Amino acid sequence: MNLALKLPALALPPASPQFINRYSQSSQGQAQSAVRELAEGLSAAAASVSPKYFYNALGSKLFEAITRLDEYYPTRTEAGIFEAAHTQIAGALAEAGITHPCLIDLGAGNCAKASRLIPHLQPRQYVPVDISVDFLRDAAEQLQSSFPALDIIGVGMDFSAGLVLPPEVQQRDRVFFYPGSSLGNFSTEQALAFLQHIADPAQGQARGLLLGIDLVKDKATLEAAYDDALGVTAAFNKNLLRHVNTLLGADFDVRQWRHLALFNEAESRIEMHLQAQRNLTVRWPGGERVFRGGERIHTESSYKYTVASMSALLRRAGFTRISYWTDPEDWFAVFWASV
Ligand code: AVI
Repeated sequence: MNLALKLPALALPPASPQFINRYSQSSQGQAQSAVRELAEGLSAAAASVSPKYFYNALGSKLFEAITRLDEYYPTRTEAGIFEAAHTQIAGALAEAGITHPCLIDLGAGNCAKASRLIPHLQPRQYVPVDISVDFLRDAAEQLQSSFPALDIIGVGMDFSAGLVLPPEVQQRDRVFFYPGSSLGNFSTEQALAFLQHIADPAQGQARGLLLGIDLVKDKATLEAAYDDALGVTAAFNKNLLRHVNTLLGADFDVRQWRHLALFNEAESRIEMHLQAQRNLTVRWPGGERVFRGGERIHTESSYKYTVASMSALLRRAGFTRISYWTDPEDWFAVFWASV
């Protein structure tokens, strides 16, 4: 009797992703620079806190919830463009001679966008990069179970402070993937510097960039996307104060602050603020700030581009060939820019 025939086939366990944590490697230095940056921003005449402080564990979950809101159109609109244009996108990469890229996913979060694109782009290596280290580690592990044969290297790092990838990341055919209009959270000067870094062959070593960008549209649609009826974006904004309390040892009372989202047409950007509901004093070790009732903390800018203004920025940064795809309403655009 052949016993082997009676045994169930043994499924091979999926490979595990590699994980390189560049964020907490110098966690003490990281914490000190966060304290300095936060105290400086809160003490400035026009108070501000960098949007990177939205993304603690709860903030990352709240952002995930935002992407499912009716009002927040960017995520589903971008997904629709990838769904409709994946063949053309893969064709554009092939035209540039790239068939199995090293796909570097900037701000990968839950890796959901890349997971839909991976079957079409067939990367040789997938490198999700994110500041939210534990969230990314879980996401990379889940992705590995969907693509057991894929070489995955998760990198925990704050790439807004510089984009130097570890040597484990393959240099050949690097394609940077920056979806979700995250570039819109940089000022125009920062966005240019960031794109220049990626386009510079000596720096990012990129063959190209696949970029999702939210486009200018009517004010009501824009403002509703950042001030939803359920109050999820308000919670996301206010949770930043809780994160600041943890990092800086501050004593913000979240209930005393109101969420604001306004489209600044002159600057072509949505601005998110937190507004003091009455005169308040916020204290932290070594400092304090008095906020008058109505005074604001600027927490985020989300720049909105046109196809023409983004194409011009990409060219200024050094990209030479640019293609793009939009949805039927021209609300969002996906660009493929090669060097
Ligand atoms: C991550 N980033 C592109 C989002 C945006 O639309 O600017 C962050 C966000 N802020 C509020 N809602 C979503």
